[in-house]
Amino acid sequence: AGGTPAATPPMGFNNWNAFGCDVNEALIKETADIFVSSGLKDAGYQYVNIDDCWSARERGADGKLVPDPVKFPNGIKGVADYVHAKGLKLGIYGDAGTKTCAGYPGSLGHEDVDAQTWADWGVDYLKYDNCNNQSDGSQADYVRRYTAMRAAIGRTGRSIVYSICEWGTSQPWLWAKGIGDLWRTTGDISDNWSSIRSIIRQNAPLAPYAGPGHWNDPDMLEVGNGGMTATEYRSHMGMWAMMAAPLIIGTDLRKASAETLSILGNREVIAIDQDRLGVQASVVSDSGGLMVLDKPLAGGDRAIALHNSTDSLATISVAARDTGLARAGAYRLHDVWTGDTLQARSTISAGVPAHGTVVYRVRPLRDPAATAPAVAVGA
Ligand code: GLA
Repeated sequence: AGGTPAATPPMGFNNWNAFGCDVNEALIKETADIFVSSGLKDAGYQYVNIDDCWSARERGADGKLVPDPVKFPNGIKGVADYVHAKGLKLGIYGDAGTKTCAGYPGSLGHEDVDAQTWADWGVDYLKYDNCNNQSDGSQADYVRRYTAMRAAIGRTGRSIVYSICEWGTSQPWLWAKGIGDLWRTTGDISDNWSSIRSIIRQNAPLAPYAGPGHWNDPDMLEVGNGGMTATEYRSHMGMWAMMAAPLIIGTDLRKASAETLSILGNREVIAIDQDRLGVQASVVSDSGGLMVLDKPLAGGDRAIALHNSTDSLATISVAARDTGLARAGAYRLHDVWTGDTLQARSTISAGVPAHGTVVYRVRPLRDPAATAPAVAVGA
């Protein structure tokens, strides 16, 4: 009951990017605590997700998956209860093959028992991978596997977000709608600019495939992990919001700086990501590493991003008439990172630093009389 659990892109945390296999109960509980104390929960972050390596190496005598007793002394159920008591949700990781990517038991042939086990524990989100798939690699085969788990989740009667991790498949945007709530569109992200640039190049053109309950997933956030500058992390976060991507924090929140928390917690950026229209930004122009994106927002505003993936400062411009903006004599531009408000007549433009992205929330102004060309009216 209650419709799709992913009407807007899921927001939460996953331990993989910062910790890999080094996951345990304390980390998950402390992350849930910080979601509440830092305001990230109020900002919309909801799912606290456990990635690979949470289970014992073998199934139990009853055929069920068993949590690693050292990492999870109170089981996954114990963690789920803790997370739920904070008003948050719990996610877990599984695999459609014989073993997970890190070599723990996979769910092939155990779909019903595993889905039921997760449901019994109170799991709300499943990231389901397809490593070690012993498959012929055909589309029919991987569609069958992902459909088998979708059906098994359905039989549990529990509302569980179903996140498709794409290993061993290809072009999930062409087949995964109606099976998963989101699907990875690229290989694994890493904490450097060339990874971010390459993922944006792959994911931005896939806008037509995304919408409520069926999102492109360009992988989890690296914001805060130390390999990029603040400018690059703002680009990463801003472009994920433009692309209506899931916002899954991938850093150690116990050590996060104020700057990291302010990037992850920026309410205006989150509002762009979570806008209820659920439309991924379209690419208006893309040349020489300079990209303009345009995302419609409920109520008639649009988010316009000027993205500079090159290694030098560049001026990026777009004519308002080349975007989806309603015709108006002037436009109010709100820079979601600096908080500055400006006005523009017909051209939206900014000097954008190397690896930077300026994101404006743009509103057509009703009264063209009150306009002046691109003048800053606030700081
Ligand atoms: C794959 C996924 C990663 C992570 C690992 C775990 O590589 O793409 O996000 O889940 O498996 O082994």
